[in-house]
Amino acid sequence: MVVLSGTANRDLAASIARELDVKLGGCEIQRFPDGEVSVELTEPVRRKDVFIVQPTSPPVDEHLIELLAIADATRRAAAGHITAVIPYFGYGRQDKRRGHRVPITASMVAELLEAVGVEHVLSVDLHAPQIEGFFRIPVDTLSAVPVLYEAVRPYLPDHAAVVSPDAGRVTMAAQYAAQINAPVIVLHKRRESATETGVTHVVGDVRGRSCLIVDDMISTGGTIAESVEALIDAGANPDVLVAATHGLLLEGAQEKLSHKAIHRIFVTDTVSTAGKEVPNLEVVSIAPLIAAAVSRFLADGSLTELQAALRKPRS
Ligand code: R5P
Repeated sequence: MVVLSGTANRDLAASIARELDVKLGGCEIQRFPDGEVSVELTEPVRRKDVFIVQPTSPPVDEHLIELLAIADATRRAAAGHITAVIPYFGYGRQDKRRGHRVPITASMVAELLEAVGVEHVLSVDLHAPQIEGFFRIPVDTLSAVPVLYEAVRPYLPDHAAVVSPDAGRVTMAAQYAAQINAPVIVLHKRRESATETGVTHVVGDVRGRSCLIVDDMISTGGTIAESVEALIDAGANPDVLVAATHGLLLEGAQEKLSHKAIHRIFVTDTVSTAGKEVPNLEVVSIAPLIAAAVSRFLADGSLTELQAALRKPRS
């Protein structure tokens, strides 16, 4: 097998390769003066099982095109089987039409990946599970909940509540809540624009409780900042924990996440957080989980068993 990496998160790819006890495969990526990407595989992949690790994180389009180009090079070099390991699937939030003259961009990305020869996709906490339906090839989605929960656990006080910042994260919140036997609180979020949202209702009683807000991603940090405000207004304790799978942490997030009621923020390394100066940020590696999944693919093993073993409630 061969593990290749684009430029989006070489540290993660190297950690996955280390877990699998292989070296990263040779793949040179450069940019032409006009910005076009240039890819060259520097070692044979003929008949090999190739895993291309590339989150399509910001700059999303650059990383996506890189991934497509690496897959195309791999297919033309007669690889045996191509798996795209896309720990963070960019465009995942564009999974439905919100008007009559708009694309479903997540579906377009799926078609592009298949067009260049990707035969299998491995991702982590897709924004919406139905994105799998945009593909005709197998898609496996890992849950980062067990990994993040292990990191959050020592900081969780008694009588905590798990908070879903919108309707889309209720299932994830319930997974955390099942581990600690805590209630799930749901916030009702209204989207004002692509960059602005507002919390209108807190569903559940948070008075005197410490809250763990869970989400699939922190992008601008707006959702978390507004959720913290709403919870404090509703009587929650000012020691909020945050656990989110993908720490995009865009410009401005640092300020929004500097709220004095936020005690600690946990994200995984699906997206590189290098250079992000967010206070109280703890990054947990997803590499062992992805490597375990890859090992199972190679041995025709079951991913369901892998995740079920991690999901067992702890006392
Ligand atoms: C929304 O549906 C997502 O699950 C996240 O809550 C959202 O994308 C986070 O974005 P931001 O940090 O910009 O509020």
